[in-house]
Amino acid sequence: MLLLNKIDDVRKNIKDWKEEKYTIGLVPTMGALHKGHASLIKKAKETCDKVIVSIFVNPIQFGPNEDYDKYPRTIEKDSELCRELGVDIIFAPAPEEMYGENKKLSNNEFTFIYPAYNYVDCMCGKSRPGHFDGVATVVMKLFNITKADYAFFGQKDAQQLFILKQVVKDLNLDINIISCPIVRETDGLALSSRNTYLSETERKNAITISKALFKIKELYETGIKDTNIMFDTAISILNKDIDLEYLEFRNFETFEKVNELKKNTLIAIAAKSGKTRLIDNIIL
Ligand code: PAF
Repeated sequence: MLLLNKIDDVRKNIKDWKEEKYTIGLVPTMGALHKGHASLIKKAKETCDKVIVSIFVNPIQFGPNEDYDKYPRTIEKDSELCRELGVDIIFAPAPEEMYGENKKLSNNEFTFIYPAYNYVDCMCGKSRPGHFDGVATVVMKLFNITKADYAFFGQKDAQQLFILKQVVKDLNLDINIISCPIVRETDGLALSSRNTYLSETERKNAITISKALFKIKELYETGIKDTNIMFDTAISILNKDIDLEYLEFRNFETFEKVNELKKNTLIAIAAKSGKTRLIDNIIL
């Protein structure tokens, strides 16, 4: 396994791989890898001849008051996991390698990708303005650097997944986006690098987020479809110390809000446990 920090070094390897007609899979991550990332890497290994994992805490997707500085950086542990899983290249650039020295990372001095407003100006985009522009921009750069045939993303970031699929479609990019299921702890908590911020009590309270989602699914399976009933049920299950940011019901093909649940409805929650912002969802 190669651990590369420079774009040119990645490109040299890609050139050889392309000549050999190998299929290339990219797993974009911000590091602090857990079992959720491992499942993406395993899927990439099953699907592609060569697998690149990018590890880059992307400054332009963090707001000024968010956790960019404190975001966990665990490159040694991450490398070990990648090696065990048979990853071919880890690409772990410094911010200067991705965005150049001396640039102000604003759209006055740098080219951004702005995904369609309707998909960005809702849910996580409401409380994290600019977040999805930063995600789309870095992901498009990674696609260009790696020339990957497939890219693997977790369903946990459902809005991110939807937006990236739309960007790929709208810009006619020649890459397949593969969505991978959410990986959960045995008690239901969706795996996230940010779970490490939770105290014992905050973690216990956070479990009620997935409990609320599972209850909605259970009710749907008994024939209840009204989202108002689902909303009230979820509120009654969420621990009182969980600070709900949104609970939304959207058609996962169009991203429109729905009043009645049906197949392919995304049910998505964002909430804080203590100071930690968590997201979770299910798709029916
Ligand atoms: O989901 C993430 O970890 C990040 O948003 C991504 C896709 C790696 C872009 O920085």
